[in-house]
Amino acid sequence: MIIRNLLFGSLAAIFFIGCGDSPSPGANGGKPTINNKTGLIERNFDLAQVKRGEAVYQANCTGCHGQNGEATPDWRKPNPDGKYPPPPLDSSAHAWHHSTEVLKKTILKGTPPEIGSMPAWEGKLTEQQIDDVVVWIKSLWSDEIYDLWYKNFEGK
Ligand code: HEC
Repeated sequence: MIIRNLLFGSLAAIFFIGCGDSPSPGANGGKPTINNKTGLIERNFDLAQVKRGEAVYQANCTGCHGQNGEATPDWRKPNPDGKYPPPPLDSSAHAWHHSTEVLKKTILKGTPPEIGSMPAWEGKLTEQQIDDVVVWIKSLWSDEIYDLWYKNFEGK
């Protein structure tokens, strides 16, 4: 009987934990957590930083990468000069194949003009603005894509 009660007690505890509400965005000091319901990484981004990043993006990047990072549908086809059009930065292309460091470096240094037409933002944007815009880019990704990205680059 005692064993049965203990067993029931621990099952109830597991059930209770399993049904806990996931933290609201920006909770937990911005540290990622695991969503109890989906099992996926929860971003918990600082919403003020996401907003700052969005402003940096709107002021500098929409002309090439689109209003919401969607760019153009034909981004895989090279231009006549052999360079590629700006890729989307959302889940649909490969921005999420890169670590935070590589994304920052791409934005800071751009691509060499003989290879691509991504401008260098070093000296034009502060490091804080670049950190903010990278967080905004990550906020565009779906939960599944962010989860994959996190496990590849941060979760080791
Ligand atoms: C003049 C057009 C142009 C502007 C403006 C521009 N980009 Fe780009 N960006 C590109 C192109 C073109 C590429 C692809 C580079 C290549 O083919 O080498 C690119 C690539 C990138 C990548 C790498 C994506 C990947 O999948 O590897 C990131 C990240 C990025 N841009 C962010 C930004 C941000 C943030 C801004 C604004 C601060 C910005 N870009 C402004 C043209 C632009």
